[in-house]
Amino acid sequence: MTLTAAPSRALNGHITVPGDKSISHRALIFGALSIGETHISGLLEGEDVLATADAMRALGARVTQTGEGAWTVQGVGIGGLREPETALDFGNSGTGARLVMGLVAGHPITATFVGDASLSKRPMGRVITPLTEMGAVFHARAGGRMPLTLTGATSPLPITYPLPVASAQVKSAVLLAGLNAPGQTTVIEPHATRDHTERMLRAFGADVSVEQGPQGVTVIRVTGQSELTPTDVIIPADPSSAAFPVVAALTTPGSDIVVAGVMMNTHRIGLYTTLIEMGGDIEVMNQREESGEPVADLRVRSSQLKGVEVPLERAPSMIDEYPILAVAAAHAEGTTVMRGAAELRVKESDRVAATVAGLRVNGLHVDEFDDGLAVRGTGQGPANQGLGSRIPGGGHVITHMDHRIAMAFLILGFGAEAPVTIDKGEMIATSFPDFVPLMRRLGANLQSASNT
Ligand code: S3P
Repeated sequence: MTLTAAPSRALNGHITVPGDKSISHRALIFGALSIGETHISGLLEGEDVLATADAMRALGARVTQTGEGAWTVQGVGIGGLREPETALDFGNSGTGARLVMGLVAGHPITATFVGDASLSKRPMGRVITPLTEMGAVFHARAGGRMPLTLTGATSPLPITYPLPVASAQVKSAVLLAGLNAPGQTTVIEPHATRDHTERMLRAFGADVSVEQGPQGVTVIRVTGQSELTPTDVIIPADPSSAAFPVVAALTTPGSDIVVAGVMMNTHRIGLYTTLIEMGGDIEVMNQREESGEPVADLRVRSSQLKGVEVPLERAPSMIDEYPILAVAAAHAEGTTVMRGAAELRVKESDRVAATVAGLRVNGLHVDEFDDGLAVRGTGQGPANQGLGSRIPGGGHVITHMDHRIAMAFLILGFGAEAPVTIDKGEMIATSFPDFVPLMRRLGANLQSASNT
């Protein structure tokens, strides 16, 4: 299904975006590792998370949907996973695949991990290395790719692992395997990444310590072979999904929207910090805590943005948001430089290449670097409507099976002179199933057409 986004009138309204993807995966996984019943509300019912729910069932947990976003998980306890009878299919989801590899690595069972064409290209060596050190045995395709088969350790070894890449997925995989190892498993992070695993492990009663070392280093320790106690999990709205309507409102003249209950965890809000530095009118209202995470309502009004240089160290806190930031940058006055983000090349697609290509095909000037990109803004913005240069648009964007590339370029279309088309809209359902109706409700001009 191709989707086309055309110049839109002002966006207005009050919306809620779906539950956080990272927390949704973890709620299902920790529920499966507890003894007893975990109740989850606000679960993201996107394809990525549903694949993790299926994997938990295949590993022996009872996972049931009881209402919209409401799920229960009857866990089997640490050490209690059953060997799955068929391959575990993670679809498009690197998070699901890597976290569950950590889980299986700590159990004496064998499982095969498969996924779609995008996931089958992504590097798994980053989890294979530490999990092999802990005693798991992997048979993977060349270059450590999926499909792969993993036999978990009979007696997993607790390790101390300094992360070679800033990756919450790798950190989480090691901590999950460590839950079934005797003594303490330690992960050392040179640059802090999202801490949902640590927070949620604590909420489920695990013994986890987090210590700040010198020069921004974080040391995380988990004590294995204890029990997890079920808890109720309320999942806040995903800041990575909220990013799309937020940038749409900033860049579409006359817009004024409110996105309610967005999670404001400091490890996730680099995009919002950057947009505010660019001059974005984002009011952070009703700050509160829900289920152990800070949340707020965001009121966003269209704004004339200025180009900025994004600090390198901010990358882990906005790693999924560079494509949509590049769209905001296309509207700004001056150039926005986004570097220190080499990890973008190994996401659902090579997001540096896909973003650069998508901007160029829509008439924008972009420089590509190994670790990021620089976007020359047109200075087109609400305050400058009809003046200065404009975003030509009119391009056909190849999304490479990447939901965030798909959504980012539709947002570009709302503020371009000619409509922007994306080749495949289906992948949006991995993280934001209601994206199209929700954007239409705000007033966006979005049309779909079948490819057949
Ligand atoms: C995630 C971590 C990030 C992020 C992904 C979700 C998680 O990946 O890109 O969308 O839930 O742990 P890395 O940790 O590999 O950077």
